[in-house]
Amino acid sequence: MTARAASSTAVLVCQGRAAADGRYAVGRFSDPVAVRLLDPAERAVVDRVRTGAAPPGSERMAYEMVRRTGITMVPRTVAIDAAVRAHAAPQVVILGAGLDARAWRMPELADATVYEVDHPASQADKVRRAGALEPVAGRLVPVAVDLAADSLAGPLVAAGFDREVATTWVWEGVVPYLTARAVRGTVAQVAELSATGSRLVVNYQARSLFTRVMQGAMRLVWRLSRQPDPMAGEPWRSMWRPGQLRTLLQRGGFEVLSDESLLALAEGLDLPPGNEGSLRNGRILVAVLR
Ligand SMILES: C[S@@+](CC[C@H](N)C(=O)[O-])C[C@H]1O[C@@H](n2cnc3c(N)ncnc32)[C@H](O)[C@@H]1O
Repeated sequence: MTARAASSTAVLVCQGRAAADGRYAVGRFSDPVAVRLLDPAERAVVDRVRTGAAPPGSERMAYEMVRRTGITMVPRTVAIDAAVRAHAAPQVVILGAGLDARAWRMPELADATVYEVDHPASQADKVRRAGALEPVAGRLVPVAVDLAADSLAGPLVAAGFDREVATTWVWEGVVPYLTARAVRGTVAQVAELSATGSRLVVNYQARSLFTRVMQGAMRLVWRLSRQPDPMAGEPWRSMWRPGQLRTLLQRGGFEVLSDESLLALAEGLDLPPGNEGSLRNGRILVAVLR
């Protein structure tokens, strides 16, 4: 297990959901819990994005980052929520849960046990932030695991996870932060732990030159603006061609049911234009263990 600080990208995507709530795709997307998981200083930029008034000067970077992240979060959340609803499993495991609010906002989880797996510092930070917020999930169990170094089975089974019971696994916004080796290792462990019929919902980044160039440009702009870059401590370590990930999952015994870009999933959702590049390369794959 490697020591590190709580995830700041988990805060960023939570800010994005808080900024998008009630503004974009109303009636399809909703995350009213997100804002309650943020500390006051983190809410300030969210409030600003919600007014639509972009600040001048160096604060503009953080504003744009949260605004654009909000747009990306809408199809990502809508698609994953739909996949969770489509497979009413008694166990849901959220890998790299960050500030995911499904256990607090999805009544469909009322009969489910939700295991929120995350790196220990992020796990502790989530427990602090959630505080007295009452989950709607039947049972909520935090589990500390470093997916790059630890076995998933030991802590998960010790926390009450039942290998014989069908499970929905949610793996959202985590794959890019793991090396290809850690992704392969996690897929193998998930397959090992899953009863037949279990589903895996994975959000990943397709390999793209556009994304690499944009990331480099963003790093430079953050440096020049002398603002803290939320991605600085969490570099992307793996991007996948859709065919590569499909093959990996098939080798693990999964059948891929769908694999779509966020851009395709955004169709019919009421979103502002201008984020197509990012939406094109983010993908949601749903697979079932046969
Ligand atoms: C961008 S956040 C996504 C959080 C959440 N899934 C969401 O979509 O809101 C990335 C998450 O991956 C987790 N993560 C990154 N590397 C990890 C590792 N080696 N083991 C466990 N979790 C990890 C971080 O702690 C963080 O919660």
